[in-house]
Amino acid sequence: MTALNGVVVVFVSVSVTIGGGMAPEIVGREEELAFVRAFVDRAEEGFGALVLEGEAGIGKSTLWLAGVEHARARGMDVLWARPAEAERGLAHVVLGDLLEGVLDDVLPELSVPRRRALEGALLREETGDRLDHRALAVAVRDVLQRLGARSPIAIAVDDVQWLDPSSSSALAFALRRVGVSPVLALLARRVTDPAEPSLLERAIAPERVRRLRVGPLSVGALHRLLHDHLGRPFARQTLLRIHERSGGNPFFALELARALKADVGPLEPLPVPETLDELVRTRLSGLPDATRDALAVVAALGAPSPSLLERVGVEPDALEPAEAAHVNDCERGTIRFTHPLLSSVLYHDLGARRRVLHRRIAAVVDDPVMRAPVISRSRRTSPTPPSQPPWTRPLPPPPITARLPARPSWPSWHCW
Ligand SMILES: Nc1ncnc2c1ncn2[C@@H]1O[C@H](COP(=O)(O)OP(=O)(O)OP(=O)(O)O)[C@@H](O)[C@H]1O
Ligand SMILES: [Mg+2]
Repeated sequence: MTALNGVVVVFVSVSVTIGGGMAPEIVGREEELAFVRAFVDRAEEGFGALVLEGEAGIGKSTLWLAGVEHARARGMDVLWARPAEAERGLAHVVLGDLLEGVLDDVLPELSVPRRRALEGALLREETGDRLDHRALAVAVRDVLQRLGARSPIAIAVDDVQWLDPSSSSALAFALRRVGVSPVLALLARRVTDPAEPSLLERAIAPERVRRLRVGPLSVGALHRLLHDHLGRPFARQTLLRIHERSGGNPFFALELARALKADVGPLEPLPVPETLDELVRTRLSGLPDATRDALAVVAALGAPSPSLLERVGVEPDALEPAEAAHVNDCERGTIRFTHPLLSSVLYHDLGARRRVLHRRIAAVVDDPVMRAPVISRSRRTSPTPPSQPPWTRPLPPPPITARLPARPSWPSWHCW
């Protein structure tokens, strides 16, 4: 507990894993954490969905991960996906991520048409059939019911606003029909203007959906957050200004604090850009050109594997400065931005260069879906796999018990 500016703050001691790394403790959020955990604890009561909503950077993913960790701690089977903005247009990407660790277990139990539909949609087999969307949706329902008969399951999708429509409709069909199976959906959605629920949320009966609006952090919580993340103290006046400028938004506050010099005058106006986008832009502009070029490729591809990046001409060490600056890391054997806002700013700022970049990518990758880990594994069985140096070899699939990887099981060096 700490007292700051007359405010007493109780810090909740929880730490969750983000991407491949041990995240600092969650600060504040006692009520939100209690709400999320209570929702997870009711898994046995049948299907329900919790949607964490809020502005960019406010802390939705942090709570989402805490929910995921709680579900795992209760012995639930967690199927999870964190789609990237650039993946929205790719068919069945999220479905592939969600089912990646369980398919080999349950596929043999499905009827032939359903199995073929699932294998075809996730590109595990060249079925040659036209995709039967109904068979696929029924197959997804079957998978959820079979898993639910073994133990309660949580379907956790972060950034659900980027869920690809084909995954969304198959999942919506399945979730509407799982009946009394102990299946939960834990979703996080960035609220933009106009605030539109995702397709998946709209497909679920409203009485089954709970919503939690994630709001600003208190000054005290922000104080601890900055200390934990950046390891440096801030004068109380500076802290209050950071809180005011960021509106209690932790990502905004962190970017502000990062940009401030140690000798910032506590009574001077904050000598940093006004908006979050400008702050991010300034931070990225401090990276070498080659690193920014490599990051642009990552942003255009969403979550590429190291081998795909190499094929597009990215040198393995080009991303090292970005990793050192905590701009990107490794998750599930793919390279990702540590925060989607970094990716969006960089990608949108490319302007006309975006087209050139996509042409460069298209020249070496005719099927953009190839970057998905599920797909790359199945394509490894192709007759003439490309010869690769050892550091670009695809990773083995994560063990079923570790679908949400935590460092040190997925250290970033594994990516390269
Ligand atoms: N309660 C908290 N305690 C500690 N750190 C936090 C907390 N909330 C957020 N953060 C940190 O703030 C940053 C932004 O949080 P997070 O990624 O959860 O936001 P978000 O709402 O998911 O953003 P986006 O809409 O862009 O996905 C992260 O670095 C996260 O670790
Ligand atoms: Mg998020």
